[in-house]
Amino acid sequence: AGLAGPRLFGPAAATGELVVSRLPLPAPFQVPLPIPAVLNPVARNPDADRYEIVQREATMEILPGTRTPIWGYQGTFPGPTIESRSGRTAVVVHRNELPVPTVVHLHGGHTPADSDGYTTDLVLPAGGTHTAHAGMHDPAAKVTQVEREYVYPLRQKAATLWYHDHRMDFTGPAVYRGLAGFHLVRDDEEDSLPLPRGERELPLMIADRAFAEDGSMRYPSIDPTLHTVHGVEESYVEGVLGDVILVNGAPWPVAEVSATRYRLRVLNASNARRYDLALDPPPPGGQAFTQIGSDQGLLDAPRVHDHVTVAPAERFDLVVDFGRYPIGSEVTLVNRLGAGGTAHVMRFRVTRRATEDSHIPDRLADIEPLDRTQATVTREFSFRGGRIGDRHGWTIGGHPFSPTRTDVRPRLGDVEIWRFVADVHHPIHLHLVHFRVLSRGDREPGPYDAGRKDTVDLRPGEAVEVIARFDGYRGRYMFHCHNLEHEDMGMMANFEVF
Ligand code: C2O
Ligand code: CU
Repeated sequence: AGLAGPRLFGPAAATGELVVSRLPLPAPFQVPLPIPAVLNPVARNPDADRYEIVQREATMEILPGTRTPIWGYQGTFPGPTIESRSGRTAVVVHRNELPVPTVVHLHGGHTPADSDGYTTDLVLPAGGTHTAHAGMHDPAAKVTQVEREYVYPLRQKAATLWYHDHRMDFTGPAVYRGLAGFHLVRDDEEDSLPLPRGERELPLMIADRAFAEDGSMRYPSIDPTLHTVHGVEESYVEGVLGDVILVNGAPWPVAEVSATRYRLRVLNASNARRYDLALDPPPPGGQAFTQIGSDQGLLDAPRVHDHVTVAPAERFDLVVDFGRYPIGSEVTLVNRLGAGGTAHVMRFRVTRRATEDSHIPDRLADIEPLDRTQATVTREFSFRGGRIGDRHGWTIGGHPFSPTRTDVRPRLGDVEIWRFVADVHHPIHLHLVHFRVLSRGDREPGPYDAGRKDTVDLRPGEAVEVIARFDGYRGRYMFHCHNLEHEDMGMMANFEVF
C-alpha cells in the first residue's frame, strides 16, 4: 500500500507515480521560509573564488518535531548558495563523505567538459570500498578521487544556476535525499537595473517529497520494504511524485513580506513533478507575475502571466507586487496541477508597508538573436518509453543511455536546430549551451518558452524546436530528460563538441 498512487499522464498533469507519506503531515503555512545560507569562499585571488563543500549525511527537522536523515552539501538541504560574478571563476572543491560515489553538475553552467560533472566522472566516498566497481561502465571515467576540484569559469550572463548530483543511474535518489543547491551568477547589466534586491529577492527551490513512518524520505528504491527489480521498483519508472511540497527544504512554508515588489527566483528541483503556479487570491486588477528571467537569466523585456507552468529543472524569475494587496493579506502560491496538499506551495503574509525602491524597466537585457538562417543543421530526437533489457525504461532516438556511444557531434561554434518529439511529458535539458525555443507544435513558442533557456518542457504530441550555438568548449557533454527517474532509466545521450 502507499506506493501505488494514480498514474498521471496527459498535457495537464505531471508524469509520475504518487508516493504517499506514512506519518501525519503538518498543517501548511506554519514553518517560516528558510533561505539557504550563502557560502563564503575559503580563498579569493584576483580572478577566482575558491570554495570547499563536504557532501555528508546529516539529519534535519523538515517536518516539525521529526528528524529526517538527508544527504547534503555541507550537510544541509538545500545546499549552501554560491554567489558568483559573471566572468569570475568559481573553483569548488567537493569532498565526498557520503556512503556512495557522487558527481556534481552545475546546471546551466557554461563549463569545460572535465568540470561539467559527466555522469561517470565519480567522486568516490572517502570511507568507501567502491573503487573496484566505480568505473565499470566507462573505462574512460576518472574514478580516483574522494575529493574533486570543479572549475567554473562562468563566462556567461547573470542567471539562476543550481548544482546537483548527476551519477549515472542514481541521480534521482541522490537529489531526492538532498543533493541540490543554488549557484547564482550576477553581472553589471543586471545590477544596473532597479529590480527588487536584498531581502526582497527570494530564491525558491520547490521540490516534492514523501516521508516514511520514521521520518526518512520515502523513495521507492531506497525503501527496504518494497520489492525491487534490479534495484528499482518497476512502478516508479514514470517518475517519483511526493505528497509534501517543500520550498527551500520546508513544508508549505510562510514568508512575511512588505507591501512592495519581490523578486522570486523559482527553481523546480523536483524529480518529476510539474507545477502550474498562480496566486490565490489573484492581485486585484492585474496579473500575478511579471516574468523578468528564465533559466539562463534576464529576458529582453518583461512579460506578464496570471499563471506559470514550471517543469523540472526550469527556472522562472518572477516579480510579484505585494503592494497591490491590503496589509494583512494572506496570499497563497498555489499549484494548479496539484490536488489536496500538492495544490499548495507556500504562503506570503503581507504584514507591513515599506518604501518601494524598485521598478521593472521595459528593457531588461541584450540578448543575442539566433535565427533559423544561422543554423547549419536540423537534427531530430524522439523521447520515448522503451525496453532496457527485460524492464521498462526510456530512450532517446530509440537508445537507452550509454557512456560509450556519442549520439551527436556538433562543431565548435556552429548553430544547430534540435527538434524534439515525445510520447509523454519530458523536460529536456542540454548541458553547456543555452538555447532559444523556436517553435512549439509547429507554431510560435509557448508563453513560458521565452528567453535564454537550458531546459524545455516537452509535451506529448507537440514537437519543440530549439536553436543553440555550441560554443566555448570542446568535449563530451550530456543531454537528457530532467525527470530524474526517466534520466536514471536511460533517457540521456551524449553530444561531443569538436
Ligand atoms: Cu540539472 Cu544534466 O542536469
Ligand atoms: Cu522524461
